[in-house]
Amino acid sequence: MQQRLFEGDNCTIGQSGELIFNGVDLGRLAREYETPYYLISENILRANCRRFMAGFEGVPGFRVYYSVKTNYESGVLQCLRDLGFGVEISGGLDLLACRRAGFQPEDIVFDGPCKSEEELRQAIDLGIHLINVESELELQTIDRLARERGRIVPVGIRIDPIVKNPSYSKLISTYKQKFGFPIDRCDSVFELANRCKNVQVVGLHAHIGSQILSPELYVKNLSILFELAARLKKNSLNILEVNIGGGFPAPSTRHLRVSRRMKGAELLDRINLLEARPPEIGEFGRSIQGAYEEACRRWDIRPILATEPGRSLVSNTCVVIGRVRVIKDRWVFTDISINDVPENLFFSEFRVFFPGKMRENWVKKAHLSGPTLATNDVILFETAVPELQAGDPIAIFDTGAYSITRANQFTRPRSAVYFLRSDGRIEVIRRRERPEDVLSMQVWNGRNGAGVFREEAVAVAGLSA
Ligand SMILES: Cc1ncc(COP(=O)(O)O)c(C=O)c1O
Repeated sequence: MQQRLFEGDNCTIGQSGELIFNGVDLGRLAREYETPYYLISENILRANCRRFMAGFEGVPGFRVYYSVKTNYESGVLQCLRDLGFGVEISGGLDLLACRRAGFQPEDIVFDGPCKSEEELRQAIDLGIHLINVESELELQTIDRLARERGRIVPVGIRIDPIVKNPSYSKLISTYKQKFGFPIDRCDSVFELANRCKNVQVVGLHAHIGSQILSPELYVKNLSILFELAARLKKNSLNILEVNIGGGFPAPSTRHLRVSRRMKGAELLDRINLLEARPPEIGEFGRSIQGAYEEACRRWDIRPILATEPGRSLVSNTCVVIGRVRVIKDRWVFTDISINDVPENLFFSEFRVFFPGKMRENWVKKAHLSGPTLATNDVILFETAVPELQAGDPIAIFDTGAYSITRANQFTRPRSAVYFLRSDGRIEVIRRRERPEDVLSMQVWNGRNGAGVFREEAVAVAGLSA
């Protein structure tokens, strides 16, 4: 009899303690391929996408722009393109990945507070759906670039809709000010846009955070954006698209939970909230849909409703598989580093599981460390583990969001990525980096990995003086 690891996730425990992820025995897989590596499941990705779309089924013209920085592996992007999703890019790297995956310009929106002029130029030349503007300077730059090309460029304006939130600390409120225009001080950007003859404001945009557990926050966000759209209509500005951003939660917080290093985590644990189950995406969909219909009626406007989910679509699609390497006293060193799972930092921590040992007693307490020399390369402190030996497989789930895209090369090349196809085939979609790959960007005696290094590049960067 197989038992679920956690209610609502995709892992089961086999009779002999095997850990089975989407039908695959992870212990067997850990021995088959060199570890560590990421394994992404196409089945789970497709199911998440279907669930997301079903949650917003009743909204005519509903648009989803997948947030590409969450995970831009080829298998993921191709799958989303096949399902008809659009994409939200945050720069030239995302744009290139999306073009390679076959997304059309009209399916692309561009977000970010500090887009380079070159990136803006590329987006305009390609004719993407719209650029969400975050500063007056950016608006003027787009206007100038568009004028040089004899074009009118569609833009959205990013708004910070919830300026004062009593539950935010001063620090969080300050960080948030980096993004967009505060709702109570946004009039001037619309006045400026009116004077910029080569941009046309067609959208309003807001992104209010990540792993948001309350549908009510979206309802509030949407109501504020609609009220603004109605006000703009009186000044003859028709908003065609209202984008409420991403932030929908991963289906489980049991794998990536609030770190016990955080103050208050112990209390959350005691009241059983450390691993609380977030509301289903359908619950968000129903609340947002209701608020959308009401706002359309109330303000007599019907812009397209758009979203930019990232984490909620990909988080639970991926597991990192590694091995125990060295055991010394209470320290268990694994080949998975926080380089591979950088979200495992101060605020949050991944849980770790042991394929093949899931039915044993986990009574020992150990510190699970990554292999690098970084003092903070510790995956879990003081955690219960089974009896372990070097070579035992380990697995970390819910690593599909912001892990591969934020992985770094501190003392080790980055890990490989495999894609578990719906038909059971496993394909490499990113080969393991080699030391030569990392060093190929360095210039040694005028040459780098690509051959003779071009001196002009140095001059353009202003470093030659
Ligand atoms: C502007 C914008 N949209 C969408 C997202 C995706 O957020 P999430 O992965 O929480 O859905 C982000 C993430 O930071 C973002 O900055």
